[in-house]
Amino acid sequence: FFRSRIAEKLGRTLQQSEDAFIPALSAVPVFKKQQTADFKLSISTLRISGILPSSGDIQLQTEDLATRLKQDSVVEDISAGCGVINFKVNRKLLVQKMLEPFGKEEDVKFGLTSELFNTLKRGTTLVEYSSPNIAKKFHAGHLRSTIIGNFIANLKQSLGNNVIRMNYLGDWGMQFGLLGAGFGQFGCQDKLKQNPLQHLFEVYVQVNKEAEHNEDIKQAARDFFRQLEQHESEAVSLWQQFREITVDEYQHIYKRLGVHFDIYSGESFHQDQAQEVVQQLQSQGLLKTSEKGTGVVDLSPAGDMSSVCTVLRSDGTTLYITRDVAAAIDRKAKYHFDEMIYVTDKSQANHFHQLFHILLAMGHSWADRCKHVPFGLVRGMKTRSGEVVFLEDVLDEARARMLHNMSQSKTTKEMDNAEDTAEKVGISALIVQDFKGPLLSDYTFDWDRMLQAQGDTGVFLQYTHARLRSLIRRNEGAKAAIFDPSLLFDQTSITILQHLLRYDEVLYQSAQDLQPKHLVNFLLKLCHLIASAHRELPVKGSKQDVAQARLQLFSGACSVLANGMRILGITPVDKM
Ligand code: ARG
Repeated sequence: FFRSRIAEKLGRTLQQSEDAFIPALSAVPVFKKQQTADFKLSISTLRISGILPSSGDIQLQTEDLATRLKQDSVVEDISAGCGVINFKVNRKLLVQKMLEPFGKEEDVKFGLTSELFNTLKRGTTLVEYSSPNIAKKFHAGHLRSTIIGNFIANLKQSLGNNVIRMNYLGDWGMQFGLLGAGFGQFGCQDKLKQNPLQHLFEVYVQVNKEAEHNEDIKQAARDFFRQLEQHESEAVSLWQQFREITVDEYQHIYKRLGVHFDIYSGESFHQDQAQEVVQQLQSQGLLKTSEKGTGVVDLSPAGDMSSVCTVLRSDGTTLYITRDVAAAIDRKAKYHFDEMIYVTDKSQANHFHQLFHILLAMGHSWADRCKHVPFGLVRGMKTRSGEVVFLEDVLDEARARMLHNMSQSKTTKEMDNAEDTAEKVGISALIVQDFKGPLLSDYTFDWDRMLQAQGDTGVFLQYTHARLRSLIRRNEGAKAAIFDPSLLFDQTSITILQHLLRYDEVLYQSAQDLQPKHLVNFLLKLCHLIASAHRELPVKGSKQDVAQARLQLFSGACSVLANGMRILGITPVDKM
């Protein structure tokens, strides 16, 4: 609101499109955290960025701009020097604009209160994430994909997009031939029902080892997979059982993580369509036969890194990428998305690069609006019992460690469901550790660091939230819808309000590069500000009107915090 009003004075009317929004706003420097001014406009910076003409008398330009700003009731205490203009924003407006929405609703749903956002164009975003492989070992990458994809979906939704959340299971391919053949030898239905992921994984490991020296098993695997591709009922029903059991298990984990999907899709859905894709490529003259007899698409005109991409094996079966081409075309037809986002580790960057090029070459111009969000590796993810095999182990360990820490801490409150709280706080620790840096960076998993109550951690976010909730609970009676804004003109309050003011913009910026670090750092900063506010702005013992105004400030901060945490995929706890 404030920045857009000021941008207007600079002659930059905000256009109602997403692309023009941030550039227009960036004309106005962010709030400066200092006593003397909220904004500092430097004429030379404005000249360099092309906002003001670079010719002409700098003094005249300064005065002219100062006069224009003075006419706006949003500006207060304006002082113009040579080439710089300092000013504050109208304190009363600042307090009202920021805290009014929180008076009306207990918990403003997603932070975007500004009228501006209601006029932005929006569309349908399909986010594909998690996408584990049935029966193969879970790796840290799947956890990352799950939480990052969930964040992106939440974020897009908070900005008003219609979001489709999709899980694309790795449920097809030669590994099912191996698994099917292996299950005949090493499998056991009882074990499969008791502990499906564990058992399938054991079978998978065993059969892979066996296949190294046993030609018969390899042949059996090929046979089994061919039977699958030809829809032979016995093979299909065993495969179906593997799939269903695994999905059930995963759903249980997703529930713990607070993640859900609108659609469970999978590679298996697109096996027939993948054959059609091959035919289309053929008829469009895009398919070539390699020396080895495989079907390839030549991508060199598109400037691809590895110039050919195999889409058909010599035995006529399709590959991972062929199914991805088919899946993308199918999704576009079914869901009419405006953009599609894939979340996987960076090792698949080339795969998606090739995928988008094949789609474009086939004439699907919407492939331009498909995006891959790559992320780096996690090193050293271990639990007390050793290397992590299943996602569930990580969640259990996070909960156990948190429960232990809570029992050691003097500030821990009495609660009915300590396990549940430990689970939520443990998961927020995992998420914040993962989201703090750029997604593309690798990082080292560190239980002790991520669970610190005082550092920049998920535990700190939760602790701050719980403390605010408890303050609000204890003073339920004192809360009033009407309060005097002038009681919040002290520097600590103003600093918090200025910070809250940036929330919409932080969300908006995050949506540009899809990086959670902006929001994480914004919330951590907010928590530090709140910690000083607890010291400097006591509610207890203050005069009633002062207490009321402060409570209003704390409530506003609490809403934004809770809201931001939810977008990150964290469930805020009320007590800890
Ligand atoms: N199942 C794949 C894996 O675990 C990830 C799938 C990513 N999505 C896609 N459309 N290819 O490596």
